[in-house]
Amino acid sequence: MYRIVKKVDLAPTIKRFEIEAPLIARKGKPGQFVMIRIDEKGERIPLTLVDASPEKGTITIAALEAGKTTKKLNSMKEGDYLADVAGPLGRPAEIAKYGRVACVGGGVGIACIYPEVRAFKQAGNYVVSILGARTKEMLILKNEIAEFSDEIYVATDDGSEGFHGFVHLLLKKLIDEGKRFDLVVAVGPVPMMKAVAETTKPYKIKTIVSLNPIMIDGTGMCGCCRVEVGGETKFACVDGPEFDAHLVDFDLLMARNRRFIEEERLALEEYNKVCGCKR
Ligand code: NAD
Ligand code: FES
Repeated sequence: MYRIVKKVDLAPTIKRFEIEAPLIARKGKPGQFVMIRIDEKGERIPLTLVDASPEKGTITIAALEAGKTTKKLNSMKEGDYLADVAGPLGRPAEIAKYGRVACVGGGVGIACIYPEVRAFKQAGNYVVSILGARTKEMLILKNEIAEFSDEIYVATDDGSEGFHGFVHLLLKKLIDEGKRFDLVVAVGPVPMMKAVAETTKPYKIKTIVSLNPIMIDGTGMCGCCRVEVGGETKFACVDGPEFDAHLVDFDLLMARNRRFIEEERLALEEYNKVCGCKR
């Protein structure tokens, strides 16, 4: 059992949890993820490590309420216990000195890009963080990310803060204005990562994305997380989750992620009836 030590509201539907998990905390690196299960009957969901503190023996994750499990998770309180937390899983991000690195985060993906911003900065890079959110209220961790960024830019879909539009358009604007990048790393919804890949490809900027296919075991055995990269089948949980964005078949990933959309809708509907929630 894994105790929730701290819970913080990052945005109306995004919560950050610090969880007691000393063994994972000792080994967790930026780019890796954990699989959690809330209770014995719960599904397993992958969540990217936002932080890992060997000193405190805790790990940090962030969850956006998207379906039954994330809604149930976000209703948990400090002192509650998760049944299982397995990890760290996946390959760590390749942190090195590249020069000028753009870290692009979209929505809850901003929480996932945070440890990479910090690690790239600590590795001696010039870090430009570019954050995209639907609205000002949904923009998370701006101050924490600013602390490790040489420059920070914000885009909101509704124009309530910063650039008015999707985050890849802000990235394009910065490139067209003359900003040079040796590496772009993007984490967020799949259409966003696809758009970032299409933006940087003509400029031949090396671009890395963190893929989030449906996962079951997270250890390379079930094949559920298979993605196509450079015409080859890869398992995101063991070969990734980070891949060369210019080689990823994003359309296939989006199609596979929609596979259980009806079952997910029904599960959420049932859960809402049980918990008395309106949506
Ligand atoms: P969101 O819908 O709020 O979008 C966040 C930002 O992404 C937007 O502000 C915009 O700048 C950009 N964006 C969204 N749609 C776009 C499009 N069609 N084209 C270009 N840019 C676009 O994001 P959210 O609701 O926080 O994200 C939810 C999704 O992110 C879930 O599907 C979740 O699985 C995924 N996710 C991915 C990772 C990962 O490791 N890649 C991690 C966490 C969550
Ligand atoms: Fe089963 Fe990756 S989740 S192989």
